[in-house]
Amino acid sequence: MAKAPSPDRITGLQMQFMASKTFLTTVELGLFTELAKGPLDCDTLRARLGLHPRGARDFFDALVAMGVLERERGLYSNTPESDFYLDRAKLTYAGGIAEMFNARLYGFWGALTEGLRTGKPQNEIKGGENLFDAIYGDPQRLRGFLRAMTGLSLPVAEAMAAKFPWRDYQTFIDVGTAQGALPVQVALAHQHITGGGFDLPVVGPIFDEYVASFDLQKRLRFYPGDFMKDPLPQADVLVMGHILHDWNLDEKRMLLRKAYDALAKDGALIVYEHLIDDERRTNLGGLLMSLNMLVETHGGFDFTGADCSGWMREAGFRQTRVEHLSGPQWMVVGVK
Ligand SMILES: C[S@@+](CC[C@H](N)C(=O)[O-])C[C@H]1O[C@@H](n2cnc3c(N)ncnc32)[C@H](O)[C@@H]1O
Repeated sequence: MAKAPSPDRITGLQMQFMASKTFLTTVELGLFTELAKGPLDCDTLRARLGLHPRGARDFFDALVAMGVLERERGLYSNTPESDFYLDRAKLTYAGGIAEMFNARLYGFWGALTEGLRTGKPQNEIKGGENLFDAIYGDPQRLRGFLRAMTGLSLPVAEAMAAKFPWRDYQTFIDVGTAQGALPVQVALAHQHITGGGFDLPVVGPIFDEYVASFDLQKRLRFYPGDFMKDPLPQADVLVMGHILHDWNLDEKRMLLRKAYDALAKDGALIVYEHLIDDERRTNLGGLLMSLNMLVETHGGFDFTGADCSGWMREAGFRQTRVEHLSGPQWMVVGVK
């Protein structure tokens, strides 16, 4: 009889949602924020978080096994990355995306089977409206969503500030900017650059507050508008992060044409996303994000670098290139 193949991949995969939920709950509870103040033993940490004794030790040690906590002589502490990205008291906090996944997507992904069967979103817009209209009607959900976008884009923003040749340009606008994580990182790294963020008017006060917390309000301003109706503001560089994946192919093409029209001669458009690899085999992050667009939007989907370069060339861009940014996220640069 042939030797049985290893079942390890299958047994690992079917438990991954437990690890993911354990991590999301940790961020919700503010555990990393508590430990950023100093190491704690099991009982003290449990009491600070208001947890019952039964699950606490397993919960904390599971986080050690996942590599997001350390434990030395009975004292738990943050790893360097948890401390940097997951302490709510720091400006580098990127846990907003985990908070949003926990509060919204964890539940909505429970209906993935129905989404795959029907091709319809499974979130707040099951009734038919636009995702942003549905979320932005409630001030708390609006703020939570925009903070989540900072969590999604902060590591990418740092990489893009370092990798793109900003010294060759003077002005830039981040289209669909949310809180403004990307413009802030670019402005912090490049003193000569001015610009800001374009988004729906309701986002303005939250962008202004975030930008002012870095004292960058003299160099970065908010451009209110609706990119489905209005032209885009003019600049040397336009950025679209996690914008195209929200929309269907016709809408993607329309947004690329608007970007082309708004750019200065020789200007550049940077599209960044969880790109799918051209062979559609390896970049699991891109493929899962695309399934997430099925759950979240009416017609959105993620795409490969080759897809995006092709659409950019159709819109008129004369050169395109694809470069890695951080984790599963890549940028496609189109030059006018
Ligand atoms: C998925 S978020 C991406 C945010 C940010 N670029 C990032 O990557 O972190 C999409 C953004 O597009 C904005 N947006 C959605 N519809 C818009 C519209 N019609 N006009 C302008 N902005 C819009 C949303 O408010 C939100 O900030």
